[in-house]
Amino acid sequence: MIPAKVKIVEVGPRDGLQNEKEFVPTETKIELVNRLARAGIVNVESTSFVSPKWVPQMSDAAAVMAGIERRPGTIYSVLTPNMRGFEGALESKADEIVIFGAASEAFSQKNINCGIAESIARFEPVAKAAKDAGMRLRGSISCALGCPYQGEVSIESVVDVVERMKALGCDEIDIADTIGVGTPKRTREVLAAAQKVFPRERLSGHFHDTYGQAVGNIYAALLEGIEIFHASVAGLGGCPYAKGATGNVATEDVVYLMNGLGIETGVDLDQLVDIGDFISRAIGKPSSSRAGRAIFTKKRDGASACV
Ligand code: HMG
Ligand code: MG
Repeated sequence: MIPAKVKIVEVGPRDGLQNEKEFVPTETKIELVNRLARAGIVNVESTSFVSPKWVPQMSDAAAVMAGIERRPGTIYSVLTPNMRGFEGALESKADEIVIFGAASEAFSQKNINCGIAESIARFEPVAKAAKDAGMRLRGSISCALGCPYQGEVSIESVVDVVERMKALGCDEIDIADTIGVGTPKRTREVLAAAQKVFPRERLSGHFHDTYGQAVGNIYAALLEGIEIFHASVAGLGGCPYAKGATGNVATEDVVYLMNGLGIETGVDLDQLVDIGDFISRAIGKPSSSRAGRAIFTKKRDGASACV
């Protein structure tokens, strides 16, 4: 049975913007986070406390966190690869920290400059500190459906990292298709295997849309009972360490899908479409959301149009 309600985690301000070459003004990032929360997104991945040498776009993490409004009940998450990042997260009063590992050794090296086992060892003190501070802890697993460097990634290696993240005390674990190569069959297999070792209701699907499979993969994940999905408004993004990977699945497309299935999201699609237009204009790129473009054009022109 597919779920009656899902949680959408909006990752545009982080996963979406981190790949932008031109620095996006802090004020724009703040407005983006605020508008998304007001549109009904209950979990906004807002920024990353990572090395500015590695991801310069996220160098204003503290200012973004200081500038956003905090809506009661909304979870504002940040990425933290190490204790330095955790300290920034704690100071900024983030609600949730995200440790990010990979199911592929090669990607782990490129993204966080260490192998899988070493990354887990580095996350240990971060996870403990988060728990001691009463913060939510999420673990993200990149390349769960394929890797840009090593190609195929076995289901066993995904399950192995899920178990390690579980042992660290993760409240939620993300199964991420970093380069968008996954297809519905593989998605179902990986998610079925993951939920044998971690509670289904705390597993999430994080799909990039490089090969146009993301909406199909989300439907496949729903058939596996998954209730949490990550998406990026206007389909923003890519990954600095996965060349050619496009953005996450667009939030507008996911909400449109859920509305059509009668699945509750609590997100106002109309507002989301306007936010997609706002951020697309701000970064000077067209939205890659199909539903977003169609709805925006219809609103503007007052009739169904070819977009
Ligand atoms: P390193 O170079 O091995 O570490 O990087 P280091 O400890 O030698 O630090 C290098 C410099 O960065 C030092 O500065 C540190 O002080 C500084 P220097 O002494 O040279 O002036 N530094 C920091 N500064 C601010 N905040 C910090 C921090 N840590 C060190 N937290 C490190 C290791 C993990 C730090 C680095 O590789 C890094 O920051 N990587 C981040 C990569 C990243 O953000 N990738 C994108 C996010 S993951 C993703 O998009 C995938 C996901 O969406 C799921 C999916 O789709 O797959 C989540
Ligand atoms: Mg991602």
